[in-house]
Amino acid sequence: MILVTGGAGFIGGNFVLDWLAQSDEPVINLDKLTYAGNLDTLNSLDGDARHIFVRADIGDRELITKLLAEHQPRAVINFAAESHVDRSISGPGEFIQTNVVGTFNLLEAVRGYWSVLPAEQKDAFRFLHVSTDEVYGSLELNDPAFREDNNYEPNSPYSASKAASDHLVRAWHHTYGLPVLTTNCSNNYGPYHFPEKLIPLVILNALAGKPLPIYGDGMQIRDWLYVKDHCSAIRRVLEAGKPGETYNVGGWNEKPNIDVVKTICAILDQLKPRADGKPYVEQITYVTDRPGHDRRYAIDATKLERELGWKPAETFETGIRKTVQWYLDSQDWVQNVTSGSYREWVSKQYGA
Ligand code: NAD
Ligand code: DAU
Repeated sequence: MILVTGGAGFIGGNFVLDWLAQSDEPVINLDKLTYAGNLDTLNSLDGDARHIFVRADIGDRELITKLLAEHQPRAVINFAAESHVDRSISGPGEFIQTNVVGTFNLLEAVRGYWSVLPAEQKDAFRFLHVSTDEVYGSLELNDPAFREDNNYEPNSPYSASKAASDHLVRAWHHTYGLPVLTTNCSNNYGPYHFPEKLIPLVILNALAGKPLPIYGDGMQIRDWLYVKDHCSAIRRVLEAGKPGETYNVGGWNEKPNIDVVKTICAILDQLKPRADGKPYVEQITYVTDRPGHDRRYAIDATKLERELGWKPAETFETGIRKTVQWYLDSQDWVQNVTSGSYREWVSKQYGA
């Protein structure tokens, strides 16, 4: 079996669902269920003996040590993190606690387990750390896309905490020989995405007749990847990646934010026209920029494609249409995640 952390979040949840759709290998899913963790995402696994859910913190070394000894997983895949840049700006403490201290404790528990495994299992074991392109910093318009050998230049509390965790993972390989793999992925989108992030926020605000907030001039560029393509990349790296290596994951889909928002508006105009017949773009509102806002991210995924033969299945055009349709079809999931603490965050971040 494998142990997944953060498997009730956006990418981890999609990963667990995809894993169990394609294999009978059981998953222990360890998640703290912060505001971003949502068991509704995993409803279809109710009663499925292949999925064992444990509510716990990756920083709880004692509990993880016990879980590892009991279940003897062949791999640990670490998705658990605080993941929202805006929250890291208004409250960086949790980011240091989970992303840095939590990853350290997880690594120590895993090292204790791995170091006493019989030789064959020890060789085959993998610790896969899921990270982000944001650790490389910000690109100018004409800079080449990030490669694995770019310097780390993180700019936000979030990206600095992820960079720190990547360095810990690297050191645990270099010093202790732990067989680690790190993936650095670009912006994901797709089903079960928590609506504090741009794409789901815009879909839901549009449908609710609310403003669509564009930070600054809206010309910041992100490189979008459909979440299921990220999941397939992680499965491939787990299967064939070389311990100690890092792999960039991206979809070759660079878009300025304003274009992403206008695309969503155009799809909604077709699938769910406004009652007054006006276009959704009329709801676009330019708001104060994010402090320290990175201008451009772009991933060069050549290494993953060349060495491991991975390619994304979706283009931005196919993936974004599926995503908008999923939100239109998934009102129960949306209702549950947009209650209580979500509303508090929205009024704190965007005001009235
Ligand atoms: P998310 O915020 O949707 O989910 C994070 C999950 O981790 C939640 O279920 C949460 O409850 C859990 N969690 C948080 N702190 C925990 C702790 N201390 N112990 C155990 N569980 C904890 O995040 P996501 O968007 O799914 O991102 C998953 C991972 O992928 C993160 O490491 C993130 O840095 C990385 N990543 C995300 C993107 C993206 O575009 N979303 C892109 C590249 C990399
Ligand atoms: O690049 C990978 C990263 O992508 C991941 O590591 C992070 O976990 C993930 O949250 C994401 O970070 P971003 O900051 O790029 O994503 P977000 O959806 O918050 O914002 C996307 C862009 O849209 C960014 O330039 C900020 C802008 N934005 C965002 C929000 C929430 C707006 O213009 N308005 C908004 O209301």
